[in-house]
Amino acid sequence: MGQGTTSTTSTAAVRSRERAREEAAALTYLTGFGNEHSSEAVAGALPTGRNSPQRAPLGLYAEQLSGTAFTEPRAHNRRSWLYRIRPSAAHPRFVRGDNGGLRGTPFDETVPDPNRLRWGPVPDPAPGTDFLHGLWTLGGNGDARERSGMAVHLYAANTSMSDRVFSDADGELLLVPERGGLLLRTEFGLLHAAPGHVALIPRGVRFRVELLEETARGYVCENHGRPFVLPDLGPIGANGLANPRDFQAPTAAYEEREGPVEVVTKFCGNLWHAVLDHSPLDVVAWHGNHVPYVYDLHRFNVLGSISYDHPDPSLFTVLTSPSDTPGLAGVDFVVFAPRWLVGEDTFRPPYFHRNVMSEYMGLIEGAYDAKAEGFVPGGGSLHNMMSAHGPDRETFERASAAELAPQKIDDGLAFMFETRWPLSLTRQASEAGHLQRDYDAVWQGLERHFPAP
Ligand SMILES: [Fe+2]
Repeated sequence: MGQGTTSTTSTAAVRSRERAREEAAALTYLTGFGNEHSSEAVAGALPTGRNSPQRAPLGLYAEQLSGTAFTEPRAHNRRSWLYRIRPSAAHPRFVRGDNGGLRGTPFDETVPDPNRLRWGPVPDPAPGTDFLHGLWTLGGNGDARERSGMAVHLYAANTSMSDRVFSDADGELLLVPERGGLLLRTEFGLLHAAPGHVALIPRGVRFRVELLEETARGYVCENHGRPFVLPDLGPIGANGLANPRDFQAPTAAYEEREGPVEVVTKFCGNLWHAVLDHSPLDVVAWHGNHVPYVYDLHRFNVLGSISYDHPDPSLFTVLTSPSDTPGLAGVDFVVFAPRWLVGEDTFRPPYFHRNVMSEYMGLIEGAYDAKAEGFVPGGGSLHNMMSAHGPDRETFERASAAELAPQKIDDGLAFMFETRWPLSLTRQASEAGHLQRDYDAVWQGLERHFPAP
């Protein structure tokens, strides 16, 4: 696939990042999760009282973008109406391109591995690498053709996407920046995703990623299944965890740009390219609930035990992709955010466990309270279905002897993609130089304390 032409250190690139930072700082958002938003960049661009009038206002084309089947229950239904300068249908034939480091379902390059695995950060990319070119797939499960499962990708970039946009027909993309802020220029408008925020690009929505600093690095959960929703709260009540009002959607913003723009689409695992003679980010107004959004993880309302025992980490779920089985997620996005630990007579770090679900963990900043070392920002660990894991030896020894005064955990921000099926690695992940081949050693030396007979 082609690469951006802007050098990281060129004056043009520096100016472009400055402009992007100014735009990011000036953004205003619509708020709420899953609600019917509407926005127009030009007054009068939205039709009144109907979606598709005989002639749409201002000579725009009306187009519906569906995120769910037309007939899904109203509570699940996702769709938006876009009013654009040119219809998306006006495109030439798509042709297959190089997938680069991106892989899709079926994930059958390697035999599923029961071992606990951990990686350091992905290596710095070559100069001129943009977000799309810098995507590197670690593994996944399910089948995008059946809209099931998920994939874990990492990205590392040093160049803004300039003359191309990306969209994913295989699923929605949850971006988790770890290093360097992103300006996401989408069909619906602009979003600023800084480290510590997550950004969601719904299935099929076209977007371009511009860098706000010299480099950008992070994680992507590609969810092939049902769109992420907020988890039910049950006895927690009407408030708590991720509150709907903290999700921010863009306001309409369009670009009038003539000249070649490459549209890259991921379809059933492969990248396909078509070149337009204009920017497809030409939506002047829109309304609907199939929209991109950002969310600041620091706003997560962490709930926990105020008596004893570490709660199950499901209590830290930000977003969940439900399956046909109640309570069983295709994938959950879980955050380990700053919080107080006050449990009495309690081993406070996450307990030892073997989980029927499979867990990919990443670290956005600082440290994680179950691993004293080796788990670093930009790196990740995979504990597949039924693999035994928990605190490392050093953490166990320390936590078992600690004086149980109230303790603030505020030196890190970790997250987990937890999925119902085992994750199979790509070959590049199983052979990567940054795979830590001595990971098992963190659980060595856990001594026997049970008295000898
Ligand atoms: Fe775990």
